[in-house]
Amino acid sequence: MSCKVEIKFTLNGRPEKAIVPVDLNLLAMLRDMFDLKGAKYACGEGECGACTVIVDKLSVNSCLTFAVDCDGREVRTVEGLRATDKLHPMQRAFVDHGAIQCGFCMPGMIMQATHLSDTSPGLTRDGLKRGLEGNVCRCTGYTKVLDAVSDAMNTEGVDQ
Ligand code: FES
Ligand code: FES
Repeated sequence: MSCKVEIKFTLNGRPEKAIVPVDLNLLAMLRDMFDLKGAKYACGEGECGACTVIVDKLSVNSCLTFAVDCDGREVRTVEGLRATDKLHPMQRAFVDHGAIQCGFCMPGMIMQATHLSDTSPGLTRDGLKRGLEGNVCRCTGYTKVLDAVSDAMNTEGVDQ
């Protein structure tokens, strides 16, 4: 049995604390202890991006991040994007462009896109492709995703 420690952190703008096993990953803590089911478990190996959340100003694969490493940090999940009863602009763009099909990858995709928008606002469309290459989607073919993110970020440029 692994030992447990108490951590304190900010989750979607609210102070939280949890007592977690030292080997628990952030994804499991979010889904099982806080009932935040947006971030998904898929590969579990850092390859698909379905579990992407933002910790401080970094996007991370929560399947590979220890919950204990979030002590004292700010965690943001897709559930925290909406500040009002309206969708976040990135969510709105995905809906408007028909960029969502089954939706499984979308919480991670939208969090990565939001991270890019927040940290690299001048990205070209080609830069967006590179920024999103860690987020795998089995449904959309990516073009509508790129259209949506480009629109939300007011990105200029042509598809290459
Ligand atoms: Fe975390 Fe795939 S489930 S990267
Ligand atoms: Fe189905 Fe991306 S919308 S996996």
